[in-house]
Amino acid sequence: MHPNISTPILSYMKQLESQGLTNIEELCDHLYEHYLRQVNQGLYSNGRYTQAGSNVTAKVQSALTTSSPKALLEKNQEQESQECILWCVNHYLGLNRNQNVIDKVCASVQKYGTGSGTSALSGGMSTLHKQVEIKLQQLVGKESVLLFPTGFTTNLGCLSALPGKKDLIIFDRECHASIIDGVKLSGKKWVTFKHNNLRDLEQKVSKYKGEYQNIFVVVESAYSMSGDLAPLQGIVDLKQKYKFLVYVDEAHTFGIYGKNGAGYCSHLGIVEEIDFIAATLSKATASIGGFVALKSKYVPLLHWRATTYTFQACLTPGDAAAILASLEEMENDPSLIESLHKNNQYMRRRLKSAGFDLGTSASPIIPIFISDVEKLQAFNKELYSRGIFSVSIFYPVVKPHEGRIRFVVSAAHTIEQIDTTVNILQELGLKYGVIKQAMVAA
Ligand SMILES: Cc1ncc(COP(=O)(O)O)c(C=O)c1O
Repeated sequence: MHPNISTPILSYMKQLESQGLTNIEELCDHLYEHYLRQVNQGLYSNGRYTQAGSNVTAKVQSALTTSSPKALLEKNQEQESQECILWCVNHYLGLNRNQNVIDKVCASVQKYGTGSGTSALSGGMSTLHKQVEIKLQQLVGKESVLLFPTGFTTNLGCLSALPGKKDLIIFDRECHASIIDGVKLSGKKWVTFKHNNLRDLEQKVSKYKGEYQNIFVVVESAYSMSGDLAPLQGIVDLKQKYKFLVYVDEAHTFGIYGKNGAGYCSHLGIVEEIDFIAATLSKATASIGGFVALKSKYVPLLHWRATTYTFQACLTPGDAAAILASLEEMENDPSLIESLHKNNQYMRRRLKSAGFDLGTSASPIIPIFISDVEKLQAFNKELYSRGIFSVSIFYPVVKPHEGRIRFVVSAAHTIEQIDTTVNILQELGLKYGVIKQAMVAA
């Protein structure tokens, strides 16, 4: 029997497992069949891709059907595409299309070549990589910075390596998969606390304090799926009382808050109090990579115990050049960050007054909550047909019944693009019963 067409792949897998099906070969046969049905019905929003890379607008291709890959490779023949305003990529400052950045990357590739060939500890670093580390260290304002190949592997490497034998890790329940995987890989004891709930955090810290040598508290400054900002000042106050170590992932705030985009910790004036400030370089800085800013004394430990640092090839010179050039743009053009915040506030205000549920989000990530997954999928499919592209978010990315569509605002979006998007959202919001008539009229 087929599941409902909108059922997320992993929810279907759970259903099958609960019916006693555990053989992975058989499970995958069922999942593949379900996946093809979703692709053919235009419901697999995660399979869409852009024809010529991301920009604020792009020609978007639907997920490849089984017959299309050959044509795409052999005849460069694209399937039908849809001209869209893009809301699902994290190019917060639009620097991926900045001409200065592109020119500097091209020049650097001419000089430094393409791949880096090996890990940082085995000779993969160049002057360019070192310049990136120094720039980041100066911007964030901690003693040292270590550059990792991705944001994901920054968290994976650091969190698996930093806690000691008798330590406990306490992290927010909404933390990203890279944090959860890093914590699990550490093999150390861990517990979670309720999302952004300082009282629950305090209870856990005071309960476990005597049992462990150190406690690591791990949070994100802005949560990627809800757009909520973390109560970092409150966490620092608790740290003063209970003496624990704090690790903050600034993936969605680096380049966005603070002077020249130094981050949310810098914006709040608490860089000194935060022991480890990590961030990805794939979002505001339009490249790939990640870093952790920390006291120099932790560097040798991470060199040799963070396997994603020790045993993974480092960034390509082109990636490093894109980061460096983006950091220069952030420094030279404060209007970039200003435009991002103006756009965020404008879009938020319009969506709120139309009656959309934006949760407690505040950062430039704007989620629209639609808990019913069937409605969410149908809504998003029609949104796409109207030229608005964002992916549906559901289990396992968020808990079942916490579905949403996420709009990532960038400095490069125009007011016209925001207006067009909100007008279509309003129209479909009414059609699908996501908002009420009275609110739109108001
Ligand atoms: C909070 C958070 N941390 C880490 C990462 C991983 O970063 P990257 O995809 O650049 O490796 C992401 C990616 O979306 C993220 O949202």
